[in-house]
Amino acid sequence: MNSRIHLLILTVCLVVQQAAQAAGDPQLGRILYQARCASCHSAQFNGVGPAHAGVFGRKAASVDGYVYSTALTKAGFVWNEKLLDAWLRNPEKLVPGQKMGVSVPTAQERADLIAYLKTITSTSH
Ligand code: HEC
Repeated sequence: MNSRIHLLILTVCLVVQQAAQAAGDPQLGRILYQARCASCHSAQFNGVGPAHAGVFGRKAASVDGYVYSTALTKAGFVWNEKLLDAWLRNPEKLVPGQKMGVSVPTAQERADLIAYLKTITSTSH
């Protein structure tokens, strides 16, 4: 196969992959959340991890009554798609010294989870 065709196939794959990652499915995200996150998190209540209602667009480490790691408290950023993706992919890489020992290696699953997190606002539950 000549190298132009290789390049074309590679480009198509990259575009398809990006499109797939961009479109998270909140319904699938909800199921993933229940399976992988709900042991420590819920929308309204602090547990092992902080309550998640309204987390999208909120300052990191800002839920009242939850004791965060010093590292996340000092992070000072606002959760957006990029940061949530980096957090779920490898929390320790994004915020060294944080205390969530869970990661989600699959990009599509992270996109679905983020789509779901967007739907849990402070008034929805
Ligand atoms: C074993 C318990 C545990 C599980 C399971 C878990 N987390 Fe966490 N999560 C934590 C802890 C603990 C923190 C607080 C981290 C810190 O203070 O450094 C946290 C923090 C977070 C934050 C930051 C919230 C804020 O208020 O700034 C997000 C977002 C988050 N988790 C998402 C998730 C998602 C999505 C999942 C499921 C894939 C998940 N977590 C699974 C324990 C967990």
